[in-house]
Amino acid sequence: MTRYNRLTEKLRNRQSTWLVTGIAGFIGSNLLETLLRLNQKVVGLDNFSTGHKYNLDEVQGLLTDEQWSNFTFKQGDICNIDDCHRACKGVDYVLHQAALGSVPRSIEDPALTNANNIDGFLNMLIAARDADVRRFVYAASSSTYGDHPDLPKQEPNIGKPLSPYAVTKLVNELYADVFARTYDFNTIGLRYFNIFGQRQDPKGAYAAVIPLWFAGMLTGRDTYINGDGETSRDFCFIDNCVQANLLAATVDDKEAVNQVYNVAFGERTTLNHLHKLIKERVDNSGAKKGTSRLVYRDFRAGDVRHSLADISKAETLLGYAPDFSIEQGLDKAAQWYTANMAE
Ligand SMILES: NC(=O)c1ccc[n+]([C@@H]2O[C@H](COP(=O)([O-])OP(=O)(O)OC[C@H]3O[C@@H](n4cnc5c(N)ncnc54)[C@H](O)[C@@H]3O)[C@@H](O)[C@H]2O)c1
Repeated sequence: MTRYNRLTEKLRNRQSTWLVTGIAGFIGSNLLETLLRLNQKVVGLDNFSTGHKYNLDEVQGLLTDEQWSNFTFKQGDICNIDDCHRACKGVDYVLHQAALGSVPRSIEDPALTNANNIDGFLNMLIAARDADVRRFVYAASSSTYGDHPDLPKQEPNIGKPLSPYAVTKLVNELYADVFARTYDFNTIGLRYFNIFGQRQDPKGAYAAVIPLWFAGMLTGRDTYINGDGETSRDFCFIDNCVQANLLAATVDDKEAVNQVYNVAFGERTTLNHLHKLIKERVDNSGAKKGTSRLVYRDFRAGDVRHSLADISKAETLLGYAPDFSIEQGLDKAAQWYTANMAE
């Protein structure tokens, strides 16, 4: 039995209160679904800047009324310290996901990304410390590896950030570390590597590649590869990411706390191969409307060429054991995009 299996059994029988920030977004709404299924109380904070009320509605539709009654939503902004204090009141665990994602967005508007991802992050740290929460788990990012050439990426070996977004995620780690030293506060940072799955937004200028391709292929719009397609990433299905969050929030071992961890599957997939995997699933879905062409265009500023995680630290100290391979995750994602995108 894995630590995660033991943990979910334990949680079912012992209710705690969790604050999930960014709850109306992709990762936040998946954390909400799992926590409510495990009979936990959840407080959610979101300002709907990139998240959507329909994500919360979808989760409600998947659960019983009793499970849903354990959820309290607070519309608010992490850039407002009072909203953060209100949200943290009476909370045991914080899973801080709210931030502005996307490297290109941060290149276009670095000040906006800075305000949300650094000022907002600091507000959340202060409010969580003041509320004396047990653990503050936060969404860090693989972008922190920046220009460091090593593969696979190991937590201590980081390079220079390649975008304003990457700077903000590095600063998050620095602040979390200082709060641990200065206030004896418990944090864990999870460096996500290209998370994908149900409810990841396919719309908007800054959509990630997997939702964009599912949506494009299902609706007959062209799909694009930036560069030659041999760029590679460690794509990780959302359920693995949810697992890492719950393990990080509840791990007892002192050695495991006030650390950062890679959260990934531990395999590298090129964009060319990813495109093929998605196309197979869309072709087999029977839901395709029209034909979509694959178009190659220039490399994108701020993108690293290859990314692959060493996940042994999370395996050893957190008991992380990702259940879903990229193919298994894409099967699940295909079901969701087919049901939600075929217009
Ligand atoms: N998805 C990935 O592959 C990935 C990879 C690395 C890191 N991350 C990080 O994971 C976290 C969640 O990402 P996601 O993919 O779910 O993105 P998302 O955009 O779907 O969710 C982010 C949520 O945060 C909310 N939010 C943003 N600014 C806010 C503010 N000032 N106050 C309150 N709410 C605010 C948004 O409305 C949205 O609901 C982010 O911190 C992101 O940087 C994600």
